[in-house]
Amino acid sequence: MASNSKQSLHMNPGQGETSYAQNSVIQKTAQERMKTLIEEAMTGLYNTATSSSPLHQKELVIADLGCSSGPNALTLVSAAVDAVVVHRRHCAGVQQLPPPELCVFLNDLPDNDFNTVAKSLAALKQSARPAAMVTAGMIPGSFYDRLFPRASLHLVCSANSLHWLSTAPEDLKSGGIPMYESDEQTRPSRLQVVLDSYGRQFRKDFMQFLSSRAQELVPGGRMVVSLLVKRSDEPDPELTQPWTTVMMALCDMAMRGVISKEKFDSFYVPMYCPVHSEVSKIIEEEGSFEINKTVMHEPFDDTYKAMVNLKMMSLGTRAVFEPIIAQHFAPTSEQVMDEFMAAVERQLRISRSLEARLSGESPFAFWCLALTRAIR
Ligand SMILES: C[S@@+](CC[C@H](N)C(=O)[O-])C[C@H]1O[C@@H](n2cnc3c(N)ncnc32)[C@H](O)[C@@H]1O
Repeated sequence: MASNSKQSLHMNPGQGETSYAQNSVIQKTAQERMKTLIEEAMTGLYNTATSSSPLHQKELVIADLGCSSGPNALTLVSAAVDAVVVHRRHCAGVQQLPPPELCVFLNDLPDNDFNTVAKSLAALKQSARPAAMVTAGMIPGSFYDRLFPRASLHLVCSANSLHWLSTAPEDLKSGGIPMYESDEQTRPSRLQVVLDSYGRQFRKDFMQFLSSRAQELVPGGRMVVSLLVKRSDEPDPELTQPWTTVMMALCDMAMRGVISKEKFDSFYVPMYCPVHSEVSKIIEEEGSFEINKTVMHEPFDDTYKAMVNLKMMSLGTRAVFEPIIAQHFAPTSEQVMDEFMAAVERQLRISRSLEARLSGESPFAFWCLALTRAIR
């Protein structure tokens, strides 16, 4: 079976009805919960600055990795800028200090909508004045590689991105093992093989992420990240992953002949949602970071619960998955994507997963972690 050629990952660009910018309210919830951790990280940075290298005399360098585009792209770096300004005002009571200088970098993969990001960054620089002097840049590239010079960063943030892998597991692709078996009889026997392969790929990628950031952060530098995790580490008989609904919807479309069955069998989503204990174990094993604090919370907050419906869920799913679906099943028409949204809504209705999430029984949670680069 042919495997995917190199996937070009990005969210739906622009500002239109199906864009990530318009359909990322759930991800925004996770970002909002990270703000306190970012404030604490900035305070921690100032408190640990040595008298020979006081931070208030330096330009602080902050990066958000996997920023995407739209309103969420700036949430974390804006929180960091605000925290620095507040801290500086506090210190100014004691001594006269010039406005802080910050350098802000936004990173994503090269096919991200950086045009929209550039405009947002220009607005951020403008709005920070005169309280802070902000310079900004965009860094296209994979966060599984080195992106910045050694010991050049003070704070790294990343929201909702680390469950995206550098690639779908090679052993599944080269072995022609579908990530979602369309045959219901065979599916249960394949399930553990699929999950184990994805787990190994996540471990490899996350190790790489940590060691790259460990080189780029100054000793004592901070990292605040959030990702979707599974709450339970009980054996999973159901293939509970954020892409399960997507694969069920595409399977349904393949069975009805809307998309090719052969293409369905060779479609892989490079995404894995680990159990939270897998994440902390890898951080401990890699050894460059100490975990200061973790916060776990429901994917849906009360405001979102009050407004969410199946259409919102299917639009949100489309905004994230359309680019890789369109690449693999090309050519895809608007009609195919409308069919996809209808199939997603059908699967959500059948599995009652929207109801489960609204009643707080989601198998997933957002997990925010505040880490410090160990000083050696
Ligand atoms: C769901 S979006 C999250 C965007 C934003 N941080 C938020 O919270 O709304 C995930 C982003 O991670 C990016 N991404 C995935 N893998 C990446 C990698 N290896 N390097 C850089 N960015 C990556 C995707 O392109 C996408 O824009």
